[in-house]
Amino acid sequence: CGIVGYIGNKPAQSILVSGLEKLEYRGYDSAGVATVVEGNLDCIRAKGKLHNLREKIEVASNLAPIGIGHTRWATHGKPEEYNAHPHTDTKRRLAVVQNGIIENYRELREELKKQGHEFRSETDTEVIPHLICQCFEDGAETLMLAVQQAVHKLSGAFAIAVISADYPDEMVIARQQAPLIIGIGEGEYFCASDTPAIVQYTRTILPLENGEMARLTRDGVEVYTFDGAKVRRTPHSITWNPIAVEKQGFRHFMAKEIYEQPAVVRTCLEAYLDLDWTPSSNKSPFKLDLPESIYKDLENIQIVACGTSLHAGMIGKYLLEELAQLPTAIQYASEFRYSPPPLTPNTLTIGITQSGETADTLAAVEIEQSRRKDKAPKYHSRLLAVTNRTDSAITRVVDCVIDTHAGMEIGVAATKTFMGQLMAFYFLSLDLAHRRGTITVDRLSEIITGLKVLPSQIEVILETQEKYIQELSHSFLDTHDAIFLGRGINFPIALEGALKLKEISYIHAEGYPSGEMKHGPIALLDAKVPVIAITMPGKVYEKAVSNAQEAKARDSHLYGVVAASDKDAAEIFDKVLPVPDVDELLSPVLTVIPMQLMSYHIAAMRGLDVDQPRNLAKSVTVE
Ligand code: G6P
Repeated sequence: CGIVGYIGNKPAQSILVSGLEKLEYRGYDSAGVATVVEGNLDCIRAKGKLHNLREKIEVASNLAPIGIGHTRWATHGKPEEYNAHPHTDTKRRLAVVQNGIIENYRELREELKKQGHEFRSETDTEVIPHLICQCFEDGAETLMLAVQQAVHKLSGAFAIAVISADYPDEMVIARQQAPLIIGIGEGEYFCASDTPAIVQYTRTILPLENGEMARLTRDGVEVYTFDGAKVRRTPHSITWNPIAVEKQGFRHFMAKEIYEQPAVVRTCLEAYLDLDWTPSSNKSPFKLDLPESIYKDLENIQIVACGTSLHAGMIGKYLLEELAQLPTAIQYASEFRYSPPPLTPNTLTIGITQSGETADTLAAVEIEQSRRKDKAPKYHSRLLAVTNRTDSAITRVVDCVIDTHAGMEIGVAATKTFMGQLMAFYFLSLDLAHRRGTITVDRLSEIITGLKVLPSQIEVILETQEKYIQELSHSFLDTHDAIFLGRGINFPIALEGALKLKEISYIHAEGYPSGEMKHGPIALLDAKVPVIAITMPGKVYEKAVSNAQEAKARDSHLYGVVAASDKDAAEIFDKVLPVPDVDELLSPVLTVIPMQLMSYHIAAMRGLDVDQPRNLAKSVTVE
């Protein structure tokens, strides 16, 4: 969910809605704003995308200079208007927006109902305005004190913003394990879940920490701990440009972002590779600039991530083991949180996240840090984040960051950020291999040569394949199920191909290791279930081809992602999706492109909302 708040001298509603537009990636199933007008709350909410809210606001526009807004990704309660934020107390004097989950809301709700508070929604959030109201009834003398008493009763992860018709010149906000920043303007102040919401108004930012709250008035900002102690904080300026949010002639952000991938790879090459390096140079070809403490006595690696980032991590595991000979474990961050593996000495933990704030990934990294705290040096945590958001929450937890140079991604289905994450793992694993002496100079040089031509090879696929894939997408018109197969380093690309198709086309798809198909999914196959197999030359080529043929023998329509030079492909597959010849180790960078194009065109052909698919969000800050 996304939160935004404003207090100043300008009409708040339009500032709130434009802020919410920038936060829609965090959820878009309903939205709302509340302002204080002539001593009363004006709360407008609408189901569905933000334009529904905008239409309602245009009709009833008011000039109130204080307000809060919210764009929702439903956790508790259906995406209906009555569940949309802001939520109010029984007498509609207080309005609250929240991002997170209030875990003890059932108990609180029962207690508050007994005390006479009337509930109108199914959400966890609604307990908050009633609770604050109860704190007033119990004697709290200011809005700040009432909110402070209320947050002590909440458990879970939350970020909230509160306004009151009885306190028209202030806003109170609080943060516990969910992102919340304050924006400082001249005589006007903002709060938001993330910088893009307010960057067009101010570049001076003050992020709240966990367990902190703040009072925003037109005269300034006061920050306190939940216990009421005043906190001194220096705001900082954002120097980067957080939003390049134009479609630039593309129909969807996803298409634009697919096309930005050659540039992402080029930028990573320039940032992390000494382009003048030759095999006879004595120095390292890599410029990752990580502290020595990351490398010292390193014995193994563990990776935590979610979604597409997890798939990048799976390729990372393959590279780290193959090139640097470092045992690497990878786990869903949401699983790691509650069943982390036993501690091992000298372990590097890597969290991968494009948003930099996925709650599960953040928590997994924090858990790793805290469970290793105070252990003998061998067990100390060493934490690395792989992200494109170098100002995000995860970067404040870890020891060091690899910037994937993908910039901000708008399409919910990750494409260019995945590409940047792959690059990070190529450089990290090669750097480690070079330091550990697990790669020969000849092999290193071969891979570096291969890396340098990847951007133009991606361009070749985009130029020569897109039209063809667009036409192919029509054959998926009646498809309900699809299977993606890959082996070795391309198995995660099969998973990613299936995930992309599910996310934006709503076609059920499964990614499987090619050799495992015969142990289950083969039962699903018939003429209605297409199989997309990745069979790139390399150590598993023959095996992957045989597995694909097992699918063809069950009448499946067989698509092959193959090397351009593969002469047999036309005979083996019903449809061939060629990519330029490439070292097997680098091949995922190319094989993922037809996967992205396929899912994109199938969804676009079906007339679906490619950039904001149903039920998903770009950034998931709840468990
Ligand atoms: C959400 C997005 C996915 C993304 C996943 C992990 O579910 O819809 O596209 O892969 O979160 O996000 P992260 O920001 O941690 O990479």
